[in-house]
Amino acid sequence: MEAMVLAVKAVGLRVGYLDSEENVLWAVREASFEVSEGEIFCLVGESGCGKSTVGNAIAGILPPHAVTEGELHIFDRPVIQGGRMNYNGVRGRIVSYVPQNPGTGLNPYYTVEDQFYYVLNSLYGLGRRKAVEVSRNYLSLVGLDPDRVLDYYPHELSGGMQQRAAIALALSTGARVVVADEPTSSIDANLRLQLIKLLLDLRDSQRISLFLITHDIMSAGKICDTIAVMYAGRLLEVGRGSEVVTEPLHQYTRMLVDAAPTLGFKKALRSIPGEPPRPGVVVEGCAFRPRCPWAFEKCVEAPPRVGVFGREVECWRYVG
Ligand SMILES: Nc1ncnc2c1ncn2[C@@H]1O[C@H](COP(=O)(O)OP(=O)(O)O)[C@@H](O)[C@H]1O
Ligand code: SF4
Ligand SMILES: [Mg+2]
Repeated sequence: MEAMVLAVKAVGLRVGYLDSEENVLWAVREASFEVSEGEIFCLVGESGCGKSTVGNAIAGILPPHAVTEGELHIFDRPVIQGGRMNYNGVRGRIVSYVPQNPGTGLNPYYTVEDQFYYVLNSLYGLGRRKAVEVSRNYLSLVGLDPDRVLDYYPHELSGGMQQRAAIALALSTGARVVVADEPTSSIDANLRLQLIKLLLDLRDSQRISLFLITHDIMSAGKICDTIAVMYAGRLLEVGRGSEVVTEPLHQYTRMLVDAAPTLGFKKALRSIPGEPPRPGVVVEGCAFRPRCPWAFEKCVEAPPRVGVFGREVECWRYVG
């Protein structure tokens, strides 16, 4: 059997943002997870729980007012160590990023050819001819006809084509880890399925690791090897994608699954009562306590992360 290679490893990662009074508002608290080479890892959770912050930390695109603690490794490179960040040789080359809305992620004033040329020239010093050669390969790989699209500006492409061009651009750098933040949220259901299929094919043919951020836990269950459920900056449940969705253990995961619309099924949509704590508000004990129907006395203390049926769960109900 091949040895498993870790593409991403976070140990007690914390990421916060300085406010105007120089206070740190922590958006990610104590996140520990591993992504293997060739794995599809999905981060799910409601809006504002810190998903993009984790994705941006992996992609090396946190803003200057971000503050870090803990560790983050990309392959064997420590990109975050305590308060220090160093993405030299990693950002763009080993990790690349597919933006949520490629219509804004692609530069509107550059043709598709120019987008490839400027990225590949700035990273590797490639000349235009070589850059076009590389771009042709990657555009074909994502199902776009290079002869048709190289001269187009982003606004001349459909939403689905923009998304494919953005993925081709992200892969063209030879990146081994691709972070895609809500890549399917700006396209319709049909294109969404095609895009998911493309990402799965690319994982198989290119052996890249995909770090996929989505609020759609049902799609995540279909395509991900691993799902991590995030709430108020913490990973409350991490496990095999299909199992987390079919047999959620954490009460928050259950609520996300119950609240999700299922394609082809009509069911009463139960929205999740309450809302996540606002940034800067620290809930004593379990962060989910104010919304948890299972809460009991013990929950005023922070729950440890425990292993249950091959899964990791942060909840007192599974302790002991
Ligand atoms: N650039 C930023 N500066 C300050 N606060 C931010 C920034 N980005 C995100 N945040 C805050 O961090 C928290 C988590 O946000 P985010 O990571 O975008 O969550 P999600 O992607 O799950 O919606 C939110 O409270 C948000 O307001
Ligand atoms: S630790 Fe307590 S409050 Fe938190 S999810 Fe478990 S039962 Fe609910
Ligand atoms: Mg986000």
